Amino acid sequence: MGSSQELSFSPKRLEGKVAIITGGASGIGERAVRLFWSHGAKVIIADIQDAQGRAICDQLGDPHNVTYVRCDVSDEDDVRNVVDLAVDRFGGLDIMYNNAGVMDLAGTTSILTLEKEVLERTLRVNLVGAFLGTKHAARVMVPRRKGCILFTGSATASIACMTEHAYVASKRGILGLAQNVAAELGTHGIRVNCVSPYAVATNITKGVVVAGVAGDDEAAAMESFMSDAGNLKGVVLKADDVARAALFLASDEANYVSGLNLVVDGGFSISNPSVTMKFSEMNPLH
Ligand SMILES: NC(=O)c1ccc[n+]([C@@H]2O[C@H](COP(=O)([O-])OP(=O)(O)OC[C@H]3O[C@@H](n4cnc5c(N)ncnc54)[C@H](O)[C@@H]3O)[C@@H](O)[C@H]2O)c1
Repeated sequence: MGSSQELSFSPKRLEGKVAIITGGASGIGERAVRLFWSHGAKVIIADIQDAQGRAICDQLGDPHNVTYVRCDVSDEDDVRNVVDLAVDRFGGLDIMYNNAGVMDLAGTTSILTLEKEVLERTLRVNLVGAFLGTKHAARVMVPRRKGCILFTGSATASIACMTEHAYVASKRGILGLAQNVAAELGTHGIRVNCVSPYAVATNITKGVVVAGVAGDDEAAAMESFMSDAGNLKGVVLKADDVARAALFLASDEANYVSGLNLVVDGGFSISNPSVTMKFSEMNPLH
């Protein structure tokens, strides 16, 4: 018969857990920092944007529960240090969220003109960074036989949609890494999952859609373009939506969820509107 356990959860869904969030100084990572912290987690922001990282800590005003550490995720010493700091200062590591990422707008959408350096730079942060975070998190999680490792992937790892090749290669690499590591670390009681968003207006997407429009206008233009191109209408994807998906995977509510690629894209990657569009062109009255 089924479990007799009560299906109720604390309103603080990460109470007592320790989390490292790479790329936590802005965008999706920043929203995840605030959300995880508000749910009772002790959070370490691991980023290279010192001023922004420290400003978040000052704003939350809780030095015992949130701290900023400069950490270039592509540097193994930096990653080792931040994981060790979680253990030394907070007593362990429950959640490693490999979220830091770059997309090089100097990269082009043509393979004919993509520079090798752009590919290498992108892989170094997005894929090598995620690998290092995973390796060092596993180092401290395996002996405790528990833990949760998260990645920020991308909907571009699920569908080819003319995005920059280096970025897509890095995100498909992350997905492969996440699922392979889930198979290994499951035997040690560690869950490994990926959150793969569609487009969100953040620093990384600045200039993708509208060049020359500054500030909020650019973000609004980006959101409007991406909503038009997206599948789910009437909703705009925000960084908070992605952070909430990560919160679910990080919490005990996802106790038996591992190896999942949680695509937060409103059905974009499973829909193909091209036939419908062609059909409506040919049959304008339909
Ligand atoms: N915004 C989107 O549309 C979108 C869509 C899918 C996936 N993503 C992914 O979400 C993640 C977060 O991006 P975002 O949209 O919040 O953009 P963002 O630029 O606001 O955040 C990226 C963060 O990563 C940090 N970072 C970059 N290089 C780093 C390094 N070497 N070491 C440590 N930190 C580093 C940046 O300082 C920044 O704080 C990335 O992995 C990105 O690829 C974003």
